[in-house]
Amino acid sequence: MYIKELSAYESKEVTLKGWVANRRDSKGLVFINLRDGSGICQCIADANKISENDFEQAGKLSLESAVEISGTVVKDERQIGGYELQITKLNVIQIAEEFPIAKKEHGIEFLMDKRHLWLRSQRQWAILRIRNTIIYSIHRFFQDEGFVQMDAPIFTANASEGTSTLFETDFYGAPAYLSQSGQLYGEAMAMAFGKIYTFGPTFRAEKSKTRRHLSEFWMIEPEMAFCDIHQNMDLIENFLQYVIREVLDKCQNELKLIDRDTSILETSLKKFPRLTYDEAVAIIKGEKDVNGQNSIKSLENELASVEAQIAATNADINDREAKLAAPGMKKGEINFNQAKIATLKNELKDLEESQRNIPQWIASAKNFEYGNDLGGSDETVITRLFDVPIMVYDWPHEVKAFYLKRNPDDQRFARGVDVLAPEGYGEIVGGGERETDEQMLRDKIIEHQLPMEAFEWYLDLRKYGSVPHAGFGLGLERLVTWLCKLKHVRESIPFPRMYGRLAP
Ligand code: 4AD
Ligand code: MG
Repeated sequence: MYIKELSAYESKEVTLKGWVANRRDSKGLVFINLRDGSGICQCIADANKISENDFEQAGKLSLESAVEISGTVVKDERQIGGYELQITKLNVIQIAEEFPIAKKEHGIEFLMDKRHLWLRSQRQWAILRIRNTIIYSIHRFFQDEGFVQMDAPIFTANASEGTSTLFETDFYGAPAYLSQSGQLYGEAMAMAFGKIYTFGPTFRAEKSKTRRHLSEFWMIEPEMAFCDIHQNMDLIENFLQYVIREVLDKCQNELKLIDRDTSILETSLKKFPRLTYDEAVAIIKGEKDVNGQNSIKSLENELASVEAQIAATNADINDREAKLAAPGMKKGEINFNQAKIATLKNELKDLEESQRNIPQWIASAKNFEYGNDLGGSDETVITRLFDVPIMVYDWPHEVKAFYLKRNPDDQRFARGVDVLAPEGYGEIVGGGERETDEQMLRDKIIEHQLPMEAFEWYLDLRKYGSVPHAGFGLGLERLVTWLCKLKHVRESIPFPRMYGRLAP
């Protein structure tokens, strides 16, 4: 019996097993917020309705104590799940020691050190349930479309996404690398099954702390035989919109818990603009407007507005502090103002971060050099101008992976596509059409200084029934981060692995 099933048991007696998320005592009553993993339910112990011993036990329950509670289900619209429990019997399973994560604000490093316990908090719970819905809907989409799921190896002899981010390990005395991507194996499987997808862990040694990079992340990589770059983009759009729709349908409660404004998720159900690299660069540099907005001017306006907000917030804080310092304020008013000052100071931190970032974005947009890959700030600059994900395709071949097909009409470009999420999030998908010409691939492998022997099996695919084919890779954590509007990718996975963090 789980809390999420309570609606079927109105007025009936049920037994719940769970943990104490909160306890509040008042005269003759103890209010327990019980969580059981499926939801939260307020349970009320009334001294007049239960045994003296049970009431006494209820009053001793510390945060995160484990308990079995029986009671009558009562409908109450004001409660989180719409129901509460009038306790009839209570059985303590374990009284928890003092829980390290209290109601007060903790720093992120502390919370990350206590990740094994932090997972129980409502916000983390909601994020990881949304992650679960995303995973389930990804499998459903591809299975319904007739794709065959395959598992690519994790130990590999070849690099697919550049040699600078390889994790090297020892494979019976020979060097092996942890997989950066299942794609090359996916291509072999696509030639056997037509349409396949991999969904597995991938590894990149990213030696810098950013809010977008993990060392271990989960990637979904479909690969389709007889598919070109444009059909690939059609699939990406259908697929992402399917997942977004599922999250909107199934996770309203979780989205509310994390305060996600879902309007941008709704607008993301309309067509994704498709821009060539050339168009994207012109927009970033402010040479071309979109939706009546100019990248540089809108950033300058935003900086001015941020600075005005900082001044107003500082004035508000000073004003309240002066009032607090003066005598005669009532206790309630003191509490209210102190809480308000704490909130304002948090807002100030975010505003000051924007004040530092925006000038850097302006500078990197103005100085962007045609021919380069887009950096994190370039992605931020362009995606802030759109209310849907955008697809950027046809990239200078020098900045993209060795396996991408050259545009037959313009050899300067490779047929890669990146999907950039709005609200400044940037790249969530990278993919493209694959080179089918064996000699072109050999030249690229040499140019990238990769060991030819490790790729002979891959080159075989171009000898026996080679066909146009394409695919893409979606970073699961990047998608969760955007859909939940998280500040940092580390909260999108139960136990993140990243530069500087291997525990818990
Ligand atoms: O753009 P990437 O490097 O593309 C590939 O690996 C291709 N083989 C995919 C394919 O065509 N089958 O990576 C794909 C996606 C990125 O768009 C990003 O979402 C995610 O993987 N990603 C990361 N996510 C978290 N941390 C990192 N360090 C990531 N690196 C890439
Ligand atoms: Mg990429």
